[in-house]
Amino acid sequence: MALRLHAKSLLVLREQCTKTFATTSAAKTSWWPHVEMGPPDAILGVTEAFKRDTNPNKMNLGVGAYRDDEGKPFVLSSVRKAESIIAASNVDHEYLGITGLPDLTKASAKLAFGDDSEVVSSGRNVTVQGISGTGSLCIGANYLSKFFPGNKTVYLPKPSWGNHTPIFKHAGLDVQGYRYYDKETCGFDAAGAMEDISKIPEKSIIILHACAHNPTGVDPKPEQWKEMGKLIKERQLFPFFDMAYQGFASGDLAKDAWALRHFLDEGHTVALAQSYAKNMGLYGQRVGAFSLVCADAEEAKRCESQLKIIIRPMYSNPPAYGARIASTILNTPELNAEWKKELELMSGRIITMRDHLVANLTKEGSTRDWSHITDQIGMFCFTGLKPDQVEKITKDFSVYLTKDGRISVAGISSKNNAYLAHAMHEVTK
Ligand code: LMR
Repeated sequence: MALRLHAKSLLVLREQCTKTFATTSAAKTSWWPHVEMGPPDAILGVTEAFKRDTNPNKMNLGVGAYRDDEGKPFVLSSVRKAESIIAASNVDHEYLGITGLPDLTKASAKLAFGDDSEVVSSGRNVTVQGISGTGSLCIGANYLSKFFPGNKTVYLPKPSWGNHTPIFKHAGLDVQGYRYYDKETCGFDAAGAMEDISKIPEKSIIILHACAHNPTGVDPKPEQWKEMGKLIKERQLFPFFDMAYQGFASGDLAKDAWALRHFLDEGHTVALAQSYAKNMGLYGQRVGAFSLVCADAEEAKRCESQLKIIIRPMYSNPPAYGARIASTILNTPELNAEWKKELELMSGRIITMRDHLVANLTKEGSTRDWSHITDQIGMFCFTGLKPDQVEKITKDFSVYLTKDGRISVAGISSKNNAYLAHAMHEVTK
């Protein structure tokens, strides 16, 4: 009897549900009528618009992805060789551990902190594999959200990479900013930065771009880094370095890690996100690392255990293939030497494109001061183009860039440099 009643009430419930979600038998159930169309991504959305354009002269200077002088994606020769080594070694496809490939994480720590780093030799760091720079930042953001003992607010340079804010907000941290870029000079606002940093509430988190600041291409000079380091210590801030371009800015791995290493020498304990997207051209392989520098090895062990607990429900363990490529390059002396030459080649081509762009603008007859194009460093140049000029250059010349006026210099070639200069002059004269 009870069973029959239960069956009847189930039938009624089913009928009610059908009425709620479908008025006719052909109508599909809609769970999401309240979901609004979101805006395209500020950076990756530019590529989508570029792909739709049929102009043969179109240029994609939106996303930061290196191109060779033919405008083609560039696979490093050291990467190709590492792939051959991996193919010949008959590796299996077992899971990596939660913290990733040990050969990669060990080598990543040395790459960042230096071969003879005290941090590494004393085991004060915990370094885990991350899903490129973004994934490594996410690990750090989630760790800080859970365990940071101070003010759970992250201070970003103004402006910062567009993805920083959502990464930290999604992890539950508050996001604020400190002055960084001076619109008047298209350079570093040292006075503004120092003043703002000196007012950040004690024991907050500060994000520092280790080199080749994205989106501005403007880096503090060594003396300015030193001053920032002192202030950060005085305010007892926790520095979190985002190092997405080591070796890619100057062509010199040690030079690009100078600020990070200086902070360590001064006794800061830091967090670090590394990416191999740009410096090894492993964009789609998503290889990176997150490190926490601790007071001692025992603390590092405890923190590592908690990082594993954070990573496991996110993606269980990281992908292996790209990690093997990066690790093979870092740990094979001949490939490592070849990679360093390729870093010089890539960064050198970018610097040449900057020089040519300024020369071509002058040839066009532009009388503006474009010296910031060559003063800035790394993949990006903050051109100073205003939003209406950005709109015009895209509409009239099919030159695609982000709305803030950032161009990826790595996307310019000898063939279209003059075309770009012409377009820039036309929209700014
Ligand atoms: C960029 O800023 O263009 C790159 O870091 C790519 C990305 O994911 O935004």
